[in-house]
Amino acid sequence: MRMYDIIMKKRNGGELSGEEIAFFVEGYTRGEIPDYQVSALMMAIYFQKMTQKETLALTLAMAHSGDMLDLSAIHGIKVDKHSTGGVGDKTSLALAPMVAACGIPVAKMSGRGLGHTGGTIDKLESFPGFTTALSREQFIRNVNTTGMAIMGQTADLAPADKKLYALRDVTATVDNLSLIASSIMSKKLAAGADAIVLDVKTGSGAFMKAEEDARALAREMVRIGRNAGRRTIAVLSDMDQPLGHAVGNALEVKEAIDTLKGHGPSDFQELCLVLGTQMLLAGGRTQDPEEAEEMLRESIENGDALRKLAQFVESQGGDARAVYDPGLLPAAPIRQTLAAPVSGYISHIACDEIGICSLLLGGGRETKDSSIDLSVGLVLQKKVGDYVEAGEPIAVIHARDARGAALAGERFLKACVTSPRAPGKRPLIKEILTEG
Ligand code: URA
Repeated sequence: MRMYDIIMKKRNGGELSGEEIAFFVEGYTRGEIPDYQVSALMMAIYFQKMTQKETLALTLAMAHSGDMLDLSAIHGIKVDKHSTGGVGDKTSLALAPMVAACGIPVAKMSGRGLGHTGGTIDKLESFPGFTTALSREQFIRNVNTTGMAIMGQTADLAPADKKLYALRDVTATVDNLSLIASSIMSKKLAAGADAIVLDVKTGSGAFMKAEEDARALAREMVRIGRNAGRRTIAVLSDMDQPLGHAVGNALEVKEAIDTLKGHGPSDFQELCLVLGTQMLLAGGRTQDPEEAEEMLRESIENGDALRKLAQFVESQGGDARAVYDPGLLPAAPIRQTLAAPVSGYISHIACDEIGICSLLLGGGRETKDSSIDLSVGLVLQKKVGDYVEAGEPIAVIHARDARGAALAGERFLKACVTSPRAPGKRPLIKEILTEG
């Protein structure tokens, strides 16, 4: 088999066989096929697209390019959750303890991620001493004893995806449905869960801005998961304004803790309940969605979910006192309240711009080597649809210096649009997809 023939076949619109796909994925991972040939193939795929059969074959080849985690030593049905990402998306921090408190084991691999805030791992490092550098044995032991564990993605998890994603990033070939779906799902399949619940975001703060694109991605990923023998469900959710109020690492941890204490923002709580319900159903905890939701609510009301978070933080070396006293989390020296310049209804908050405010404050990474300030960010005081009087607080900026606060504040005010009329309501949950 020759890479040249594979590139030409795809360039001319042909369907690649499973063997051809495995050939280039394995050859590229081993360093035997050069970047320039794989770049050409990625561009051919970008223009000619892939069939469902090819997309599944690509996903499986990438998943099998490294370790396939064996979680069979963990009792029960393991359910993983993945979000395509957004602004203020701290969902795993509250959802994982809620689900674990309801008896579904959560064994999660997470990343640090680039962007406006850190990934789940960065956020969790707001707990002094917390580590995700667990051995595989310790990870499995923790899930069996505590009910949940989160470890950092190992270098051996889908290494083909790591190389391909880096190449796509610099060759303008990221935004192809098959390539995105196979990239995400290869890591999920290799991470070993029996069932996968996907939170696919759409709106100005999402990777997939248009709802139809996000729906198509959700369908493709559900199809891949099911064809690979994993129960897979996708929730299509709105990301046209930040989720909850807090954007920034430690600030989001605090909001997740508030949610587990029963006073989280309503949109964030709703999303946790919807995703949690799907996780309890997929994990076989119950067949009845209403009962699942009731169990999750109960885990908050009786304090089990909060205790689960504390147990989890402690089991991974963190200072669990911060769960009960968030004053122990990193805090920025400057807090600046922004006042609404005019009265009216908040009609739009440019979500991606709010992400940039967090980045300007130092809360995110522009390159994978940038350092991150866990304490900074912003907390919205108003959301889309709220009425605000001129001079009323609209957001609080948490900054490490006055210059950062001023820059972020100015950008925030431009991103926040007011109107004399109340805007139409955008539902948070757009669809739950169980079939591809
Ligand atoms: N996230 C991924 O993991 N892969 C993609 O291709 C896009 C987003």
